[in-house]
Amino acid sequence: MKIGILSAGGDCPGINAAIRGVGKTAIVRYGMEVVGIANGFSGLVDMETIPLKEEVLSGILTMGGTILGTSRFKPFKPVAGETVTDNPQIIKENYKKLGLDALVCIGGNGTQKTANLLSREGLNIIGIPKTIDNDVWGTDVTFGFDSALTIATDAIDRLHSTANSHKRVMVIEIMGHHAGWLALYAGMAAGGDVILIPEIEYDIDVVANNLLDRNKKGKPYSIVVVAEGIKKKKRKKAAATYIGEKIERMTGLETRVTILGYIQRGGSPSPMDRILATRYGAYAAELISRGEFGTMVSLRNNEITSVPLEEVGGKLRLVEPTDRMIKKATGLGICLGSNSLD
Ligand code: F6P
Repeated sequence: MKIGILSAGGDCPGINAAIRGVGKTAIVRYGMEVVGIANGFSGLVDMETIPLKEEVLSGILTMGGTILGTSRFKPFKPVAGETVTDNPQIIKENYKKLGLDALVCIGGNGTQKTANLLSREGLNIIGIPKTIDNDVWGTDVTFGFDSALTIATDAIDRLHSTANSHKRVMVIEIMGHHAGWLALYAGMAAGGDVILIPEIEYDIDVVANNLLDRNKKGKPYSIVVVAEGIKKKKRKKAAATYIGEKIERMTGLETRVTILGYIQRGGSPSPMDRILATRYGAYAAELISRGEFGTMVSLRNNEITSVPLEEVGGKLRLVEPTDRMIKKATGLGICLGSNSLD
């Protein structure tokens, strides 16, 4: 068999570990031929390939980013001004020209949605979920999340000492456009005092009062963790900048803002992400060998399994207000910006 592998969407630590997991298992255990597709789905349209022999897969386990490159190109979306696109047809033809028997798509929600559409077109597709946001439907966890959590937690830890020295409010913005998993978990891990996530509508008065209360109780500083995707309320600024300015104006407490940004997506994967990505990759090769296409590998109750792409495509796994972590946070007195959770 000949299989293709691509990575699409935003990068994250662990993609190379997954490529290696698929590639090595496919070559060593199943004797398959493996080819990389460059730059996500656009590489399938432009026929940009990267040979993935066993020696290319050695030494990439610990590397950040993706050796295949990535893009947010959506082949089913017509370009502006057009109503149709022939990209899916081109992809089907190129899949044939390359002699592929299966295609592994490593990516987040957008990628799994496209993977499902390609599967409906008759291609043999296997999805592997990755993203620092941890918001892919159908799996308990995506690789990339643990590495980003480690980085974000370390950043918040570092803000504690400088916040204490200057008796300031420190606002830190954590990635997560739709989902607050990373902000919530990093906030919990690093002892954030206020955590704002997109799934819970915040009231700035609740936040300001909480910070003033802390101040009255003699707590010299506060840490406010803000997910980048918190509800807009007409703001044009970055979430943390907006919240930081409001806090300073409403409380009179000296406030500083840090936007962590792409640091969270860069660098070497954590040991847990290396293992998860390797397990996902190896299982993807196993699914191909069994002909179980139209599926995404996933982790359920610490078991590697698979889920139909039809169930995954187009959905997001968000933090529910009833999530156990939310209950733990409010129980500890952490302010989530809303009084209706208590
Ligand atoms: O999906 C991962 C993510 O890092 C989000 O947290 C963030 O909103 C987005 O990607 C940023 O996307 P881009 O790489 O296109 O700037």
